Amino acid sequence: MPENHRLADEFTHGLLKPQATTPPKAFYDLLGSRLFEAITALEEYTPTADEHELFGSPLAQQQLRERLGDGLEVVDLGAGSCQKGIALLRALPGVECYRAVDISEDFLLESLKGMREQFKHHPTLELSAIAVDFSAGLPPQSLPAPRPDRPRLFFYPGSSIGNFTPEEARDFLADLRSAHGGCRLLVGIDLVKPKGELELAYDDPVGVTAAFNRNVLRVIRQTLGVEIDLRAWRHEARFNAVASRVEMHLVAQSHQRWAWSHRGADHVREFAEGDSIHTENSYKYTPEGFAALLAAAGWSQPTPILHPSGRYALFTATAEPPSESR
Ligand code: TRP
Repeated sequence: MPENHRLADEFTHGLLKPQATTPPKAFYDLLGSRLFEAITALEEYTPTADEHELFGSPLAQQQLRERLGDGLEVVDLGAGSCQKGIALLRALPGVECYRAVDISEDFLLESLKGMREQFKHHPTLELSAIAVDFSAGLPPQSLPAPRPDRPRLFFYPGSSIGNFTPEEARDFLADLRSAHGGCRLLVGIDLVKPKGELELAYDDPVGVTAAFNRNVLRVIRQTLGVEIDLRAWRHEARFNAVASRVEMHLVAQSHQRWAWSHRGADHVREFAEGDSIHTENSYKYTPEGFAALLAAAGWSQPTPILHPSGRYALFTATAEPPSESR
């Protein structure tokens, strides 16, 4: 399977670096996707619930309608179960077309089936699934040509943009804007909060997040065919205040040696006790900081809608349509 081959390339590359790393998509196999759903049900993990509350708030809905307008084509980046897309479409009833973009086609088609059922009284709403890995950008050819009467809205919820470094986030958003002229943006951002709260959100007492992180070891084992002692690894979440990010690590509890072959070459990686695999960063922004990042990416009118708790924000922004003569 080509997708599996690509993941094997990325694992091999990341695991051989001095500080071993894994790509974010390593979390989301079937079990990982279920564990993430379970994370969103934890009191300690607030982004999903805060965002959901904003979509249900009449004040936020009014602001979204005023800023984004009617007749939109929504492109949901990382749609998954489409739960956030459903919440958005309920908040913005004037949407005419919804395109769910994600890596796994089977999962998307399943989600869209459920969505069609929920919106069956809205027969003119167009729903479609686009299976593509957009982690390195979304070229315009991966979407149908935009209709001039249907402004394109990129929807990037769940604070997923926080899993890029700020530089990567800026480049990703700048590429979206320049590749798709005249579009609009709606992006969810988890905001900076006290270290204790952040570390609990990423290391809950029930251990769901630890299981989610440790599941990456299963995915590595399955993808590379390497023998791994799953019990030898501990989950760790550290807030790095200087970089304003929560870092997720898997820490070896004793010496570990992994050997695997990939594309005809043999590889070995050794971990001493205390060495880690860095599995994810989750950057946290201030409202001012994220507005500046959007401006640096060339977006106009970056404006937040804040959750009353101050923990989360939805940002809207617009791209100026490409000017024809100048
Ligand atoms: N995008 C989510 C976030 O950064 C992913 C996530 C939640 C996550 N909990 C985690 C990633 C624990 C690794 C470990 O908030």
